[in-house]
Amino acid sequence: MTHPLTSSLMQRGTEFLGCKTAIMCGAMSWVSERNLVSAISNAGGFGVIACGAMTPELLDIEITETKKLTDKPFGVNLITMHPDLMQLIEICGKHGIGHVVLAGGLPPKGSIEAIKAGGAKVICFAPAMALAKKFVRSGVDAIVIEGMEAGGHIGPVSTSVLAQEILPELSTDIPIFVAGGIARGEAIASYLEMGAAGVQLGTRFVCAHESIAHPDFKKAFIRGNARDAITSVQVDPRLPVIPVRALKNKGTEEFTAKQIEVAKLLDSGEIEMGEAQLQIEHFWAGALRRAVIDGDVENGSVMAGQSVGMVKTEEPVADIIASLMDQAEAALER
Ligand SMILES: Cc1cc2nc3c(=O)[nH]c(=O)nc-3n(C[C@H](O)[C@H](O)[C@H](O)COP(=O)(O)O)c2cc1C
Repeated sequence: MTHPLTSSLMQRGTEFLGCKTAIMCGAMSWVSERNLVSAISNAGGFGVIACGAMTPELLDIEITETKKLTDKPFGVNLITMHPDLMQLIEICGKHGIGHVVLAGGLPPKGSIEAIKAGGAKVICFAPAMALAKKFVRSGVDAIVIEGMEAGGHIGPVSTSVLAQEILPELSTDIPIFVAGGIARGEAIASYLEMGAAGVQLGTRFVCAHESIAHPDFKKAFIRGNARDAITSVQVDPRLPVIPVRALKNKGTEEFTAKQIEVAKLLDSGEIEMGEAQLQIEHFWAGALRRAVIDGDVENGSVMAGQSVGMVKTEEPVADIIASLMDQAEAALER
């Protein structure tokens, strides 16, 4: 099936990303490595390496290995609170990475400039209107508006509300990619019609054949329903943890215990707030690794969005992208 209507609405996004379809696979720590990223880009989408807690040396290797598997463009996702952020930006520049996605809060001073100086475009997450406007002012090249339906770390507002608030007002100023809760092409078509340049999906791609996620992690996704993908609870009001959406299991309860432990360290003055937040993020990175790599889906963190209920089988990336595009085209034709 050809997709003239969808491709035409995606044109701004595809020109910005340099790929055939403006469908980004959002970076997912431990999942978005060389195999999935190259498969997405080879299938015409836009893959993004999740740097997560990688050292600059490991990111260097991951980019080199991804390049061996694809000659198509792909991006790198960096977490703003990473202690070696500036070195990671340098590695991206050295490899001529075209797009750097900054996640995890406001970019530190100088980071946007450093990415641009290295020749890459900067994409930032905007979970609210005020932040979206701030990014436009600070010269960011594109934004991802991500609703709370998404898997992983989330903001407080739903995708449908963010899209209605932000797309009509800002989509002429900056390319906007919509994320959170998207698993079918009909939804993609509707956001494109509202002015989106493209979309970003995570959950829908976890069970791709090319994804290295453990078979038990994939099974948990295939079994999971929308209502099983719940958000973490903040135990202590002084400890501003970013909520995480994941499938409910024993690991969810362990996070409560971890927060109490970190709050006590804060109380006793043994650590400061920055260190407390870093410890929380290290907890998530470790828990996610246990589930994605080791397959411990009971005690690890099975980060998943509400769209998990629409993930029914393991299939090749190319088939997932083709069905999303077919569904979008049929919706636009109707
Ligand atoms: C298992 C998992 C891990 C994720 N890890 C990251 C990450 O390391 N960095 C990031 O910016 N987003 C991360 N995300 C969010 C995705 O990049 C993407 O924006 C999100 O999955 C889109 O919403 P959806 O899950 O509803 O499709 C993660 C999501 C999942 C499901």
